[in-house]
Amino acid sequence: MPLMGPKDMFAAAYAGQYAVGAFNVNNMEIVQGIMRAASEENSPIILQVSAGAHAYAGQVYIMKLVEAALQEDKSVPVVMHLDHGPSFAMCRDCIDGGFTSVMIDGSHLSYEDNITLTKQVVDYAHPRNVWVEAELGKLAGVEEHVSSAEHVYTDPDQAVDFVTRTGCDSLAIAIGTSHGAYKFKGDAKLDFARLETISAKLPGYPLVLHGASSVPQEFVKLCNDFGGAVGSAAGVPEDMLRKAAGLGVCKINVDTDIRLALTASIRQFMAEHPEQFDPRAYLTPARENVKKMVAHKIRTVMGSSGKA
Ligand code: G3H
Ligand code: 13P
Ligand code: ZN
Repeated sequence: MPLMGPKDMFAAAYAGQYAVGAFNVNNMEIVQGIMRAASEENSPIILQVSAGAHAYAGQVYIMKLVEAALQEDKSVPVVMHLDHGPSFAMCRDCIDGGFTSVMIDGSHLSYEDNITLTKQVVDYAHPRNVWVEAELGKLAGVEEHVSSAEHVYTDPDQAVDFVTRTGCDSLAIAIGTSHGAYKFKGDAKLDFARLETISAKLPGYPLVLHGASSVPQEFVKLCNDFGGAVGSAAGVPEDMLRKAAGLGVCKINVDTDIRLALTASIRQFMAEHPEQFDPRAYLTPARENVKKMVAHKIRTVMGSSGKA
């Protein structure tokens, strides 16, 4: 199956009250781990590439890896998405390069400037049949080009105005999640009342949840047991993510859990096999660990198994 846009994927997810997982890709083992999980679970999937992944691997390499993955299993519907597009120029390059979906992240700008930038991307993307995700509100924590000490939750009325004025196809909202491995100091808490209000004001409209890793404690423990210093990392509990998926959230973003799955496995392997130095020896179980984690997420968090 060729790459597809998220339109039909999200319409089905919205109607079926499940979400499609959007997983960040940076190298071959990650692409393979995610794709094999999607294949095993017979699930639609979104592969997303950040500006950092572009810089690390290069757009052509990533695109070719994804093309190779599409050959491996032709039955899984795959969207190729730019994650946190920092500028019009990068969105345009990805659109021209064959991505089927882009995110323009103007969340750090003033409201009006966010609208102007988002609309500029929409005006370029739509005639080329490419989907546009935008962001309103601020997630606490640090992203590559956006950092905010505090959450700025998405205002429901502003969300309606923003979607109407920009024509963006999906909207990332802030309801208490944050990027990275340290999301909550005490109990995890998301503003579900706000999510329900936004959803009610935008019926049928796909929302996106960033910063949605659940930070599995077994990976944190493995990292820490084998020389890491990941400390008291904490993520979004899986049942909260599942609940969000039934409230208009059609796309759930996961990156940190992939990093933890890979690193935990590699740390353990290195510690247990100090004589080994063949990268294939430690990347094989690491890739398998990513696959297992993604398959689990597809089944129990996204609810998208069997929806391909
Ligand atoms: O939201 C951010 C993603 O986790 C991507 O992270 O910019 O370090 O690739 P990155
Ligand atoms: P996590 O850091 O929770 O995995 O969030 C990933 C994300 O939002 C990518 O855009
Ligand atoms: Zn994000």
